[in-house]
Amino acid sequence: MPKASHPSSRPFHHPQPEVPLYCGEVSLEALTRRFGTPLYVYSADQIVERLQMFKDALAGRDSLVCYAVKANSALAILKLLANRGAGFDIVSGGELERVLAAAPEAAERVVFSGVGKTAEEIDRALQAGILAFNVESEAELQLLAKHAAKLKRVARFALRVNPDVFAETHPYISTGLREHKFGIDIRQAAALYEGAAGNRWLEPHGVSVHIGSQIRSAEPFGAALDRVYKLVKQLAKKGIAIHSIDAGGGLGIDYHAGKSDPAARVREYAAAVDKALAGFEGKLLLEPGRFLVAQAGALVTRVLNVKQNGRKTFVIVDAAMNDLIRPALYQAHHEIVPVRPREGRQKTVDVVGPVCESGDFFARDRKLAPIEAGDLIALLDAGAYGMAQASNYNTRVRPAEVLVEGKKARLIRRRETIADLLAPEIL
Ligand code: LLP
Repeated sequence: MPKASHPSSRPFHHPQPEVPLYCGEVSLEALTRRFGTPLYVYSADQIVERLQMFKDALAGRDSLVCYAVKANSALAILKLLANRGAGFDIVSGGELERVLAAAPEAAERVVFSGVGKTAEEIDRALQAGILAFNVESEAELQLLAKHAAKLKRVARFALRVNPDVFAETHPYISTGLREHKFGIDIRQAAALYEGAAGNRWLEPHGVSVHIGSQIRSAEPFGAALDRVYKLVKQLAKKGIAIHSIDAGGGLGIDYHAGKSDPAARVREYAAAVDKALAGFEGKLLLEPGRFLVAQAGALVTRVLNVKQNGRKTFVIVDAAMNDLIRPALYQAHHEIVPVRPREGRQKTVDVVGPVCESGDFFARDRKLAPIEAGDLIALLDAGAYGMAQASNYNTRVRPAEVLVEGKKARLIRRRETIADLLAPEIL
């Protein structure tokens, strides 16, 4: 087997030019023979490396990385991260159950975000003893107080403030402007903290903020945290001590091929955070999702056939928008690489799935090396918001998932069966 001379920052690679694509030290062709296609493949080594980048960049601070479970909620990935000390950012009772199933000892490192939490979810999180609730409205704070009193458990909370900061990203994943549904207007937050101060079941633990996702410049993070720290100082003057600042997630990656240095990006991000929070002695929480897992994953799919319609060439593959919806939903770009590249001139093609919608595409007018029916191709950077957003549309079973660790690969989720899909239904 070829030696792994690649950096794990690029887990999907050809060990030598004529050798088919590998994930780390494992051949993707071999994996598809074992597990079929479409197949999600993740590099555990890269996920661990990315977590370490945050730890290194924040070494001077009391900090905790709370991985945003929504990016990829595979139990095996949660366990991998929990074993290395990560905490978790959850947005539903379902995600809490995932953390409890994968790593019950990590419950005390969980923060609970989300614009609408139900009473049942709040009860379960209080009982589990999570680190803090990121509260998104006055009504939710009242609900939390009521349930904390009922269960006689003190609820640590942070108000998620809306800092009114613009972040350059896709409009669907930008969250930090006043016109968005997220958070509490930062100008009203102080009054809410004061209001909660007399309640023995509410402990004002922190202030949290999350301005959006796939943000590639450090600047808006700094701007948002400047405003948050101002609020923290204002609260201190009123006698309300804030122990933690949760800077949210959102650090972006480069989906296009080319030079990029993820460690440098984390350092730049950490520097902006540090500058904005200079003098803050409490704990810094971060909620990265995409940055930890996106580039660790690929969706491997087989070409069913290649057809010509007029001037267009369509490469029809066995994965579809139900497996990876990002191109359809956000016009997102994912690099596509053939697992066993063929010689010959590149051709401009559309890569599409079998679902009955014209929106079911992975790439449009993309220049690719020659591709034939039966070939395998890999859609790169699919580790975040890929499987997590997969559905059963067109009654398609969701793919299997494999985790590669060093020389070993193991199935972490079996492919669904049609029987799985039909099971909940009643005739
Ligand atoms: N914290 C909160 C409160 C969030 O809402 C999110 C993401 C994160 C952390 C993690 O953000 P990240 O570090 O992954 O950017 N489905 C979209 C992304 C949606 C992000 C939603 N919130 C996509 O595929 O691009």
